[in-house]
Amino acid sequence: MCGIVGYTGGRQAAPIVLDGLTKLEYRGYDSAGVAISGDGGDIDIVKAKGKLKVLCDLTDGGKKLNGLCGIGHTRWATHGEPSQNNAHPHCNDDKTIVAVHNGIIENYTQLKAKLIRRGYTFYSETDTEVATKLVDYYYRKYNEPLKAISEFALHVRGSYALAVLFKDFPGEIFAIRKDSPMVIGYTDGGAFLASDVPAILKYTRNIYYTDNHEIVLLSKEGVAFYNLDREEISKSATVISWDAEAAEKGGWEHFMLKEIHEQPDVVANTVNYFLHGDNLDLSELHLSDDYLKEIDRIVITGCGSAYHVGVVAQYVFEDLARLPVTVEIASEFRYRNPVLTGRELVIVISQSGETADSLAALREMKARGVKTLAVVNVLGSSIAREADSVLYTKAGPEISVATTKAYSSQLIAMYLVALKLAKLRGTISEEYFSTLKKELTLLPEKIKTVLENKSVIQKFASEMVDKEDVFFIGRGIDYATCIESSLKLKEISYIHSEAYAAGELKHGTISLIENGTLVFGILTQKALVEKTVSNLVETASRGAYIAVLADENVDGIPVKFDKVFRIPHTDGHFSASLAVISMQLFSYYLSVLRGNDVDKPRNLAKSVTVE
Ligand code: G6P
Repeated sequence: MCGIVGYTGGRQAAPIVLDGLTKLEYRGYDSAGVAISGDGGDIDIVKAKGKLKVLCDLTDGGKKLNGLCGIGHTRWATHGEPSQNNAHPHCNDDKTIVAVHNGIIENYTQLKAKLIRRGYTFYSETDTEVATKLVDYYYRKYNEPLKAISEFALHVRGSYALAVLFKDFPGEIFAIRKDSPMVIGYTDGGAFLASDVPAILKYTRNIYYTDNHEIVLLSKEGVAFYNLDREEISKSATVISWDAEAAEKGGWEHFMLKEIHEQPDVVANTVNYFLHGDNLDLSELHLSDDYLKEIDRIVITGCGSAYHVGVVAQYVFEDLARLPVTVEIASEFRYRNPVLTGRELVIVISQSGETADSLAALREMKARGVKTLAVVNVLGSSIAREADSVLYTKAGPEISVATTKAYSSQLIAMYLVALKLAKLRGTISEEYFSTLKKELTLLPEKIKTVLENKSVIQKFASEMVDKEDVFFIGRGIDYATCIESSLKLKEISYIHSEAYAAGELKHGTISLIENGTLVFGILTQKALVEKTVSNLVETASRGAYIAVLADENVDGIPVKFDKVFRIPHTDGHFSASLAVISMQLFSYYLSVLRGNDVDKPRNLAKSVTVE
């Protein structure tokens, strides 16, 4: 979703801003623009529809734009079609105030009407032009940029990370955020602002995470933070320990392929961080054993793949810890009026920690007095900061829009919590507890084995490249893997696909099976294999092409099935961690073969900060 970058300091700003924007491309966008304040404070704006390359070509990589202070933006259209006119930055009539914005101003129609009554006119359909002109309105009234920004914040509803240049204050960037991410960096070379750390990591590791309603003033002398009363507040920087390389492609053809191959390491990192030898240590969560023994239900919520992790976890928690679990899509859950006893633990899963609906669900639960645990990848993100406790997954920066390594490390995090609860509640034997811990430590090697066999999946993808409908079926945890496999396929290959609980297919959906339709069965749950095989046979007799992905120990797969892929054996509770790898590869290769933009699939955004 939209990305913003800002720089002020001793160097030409435009190349730095453009470079930062390229690091945010993964967020998804359809147009881009920059505004550079030149000598004397005049502000130049250049915008273009389409990829950043168009903007870079127009400005010769930024060299054509002179000035040491600038802001830039990649826009993912919300209000108004993707076009040069709607692209950011937006400005007031005499271009003395110029702004970029990430988020949504919910009351923009009322604000626009008010501004029109006061004589303002509008050239675009965007809420950001309204935001910019609102700042202009208050600047004219109070003649003071901090006051204009704080008045802006008091009058808008919605989410924003807003960065503003004032012609009267050359070399300075004023910024504020609410519910949209914004990080600030500072070095001797200048001050930086961005939607996400990778955009500025090349220049500084000292990052300030801004809180809601904090105003930031960036200048080449430093950064200063203010509250809405314009009182200066002190903040300390976090030093980022991972390096820029972690967010670079490093020779891989796509980020997605690189991130798929990082999975043995990120799984090992997450396991080893919490499991030391035989000791499972979740003390970092600050959830006391007494509290954990008391909870009577778990509610898991998230969006997209994070929700799918919740579906896997439901089976694992219920089976191991014998606790009732419900899994909720965050965008639904937040508007429901769920029945809560106050003894639940609500787990919010999110890679970015910024997904608007997941954040809103978290806040709703907190307001109802329920304890919340965030399973989050991005350090210092909103969900991580607002939850009662946090379990950070150790996936490192994930750039490709379609999640792979973050999904895998979220699975591990959930297994660890399930094991902890099972142990505390005495629902598994000491011996089985040890077996499961051991099995977790073996997963990275087993994932490597799956990856080593990728050429078989690649070849299969080349045979399936013309398919237009694919069905994934499975039972239990295999069904949970199916929904993630199907999402992956849709996201990046644009092939229509459905995931079905195998037993449910015959209640309608089987009518879609035609000669040659690909039905992919997942078979890792020993007790359920026979049943799923029967369902596959049902589709085979209606002409389906049957492929199965099966645990190496599973028997009873009919010879007439068209393709059988094997994955290493693991305990059934953890099998999603292996099966999903093959399915990620399948989607990846199909996407490449179909000539799609693998890392930045159409219409999708990595971090969905709108509702
Ligand atoms: C977007 C991404 C998905 C992701 C979902 C939730 O739709 O494209 O890959 O699963 O958001 O994101 P989160 O950051 O909350 O895990």
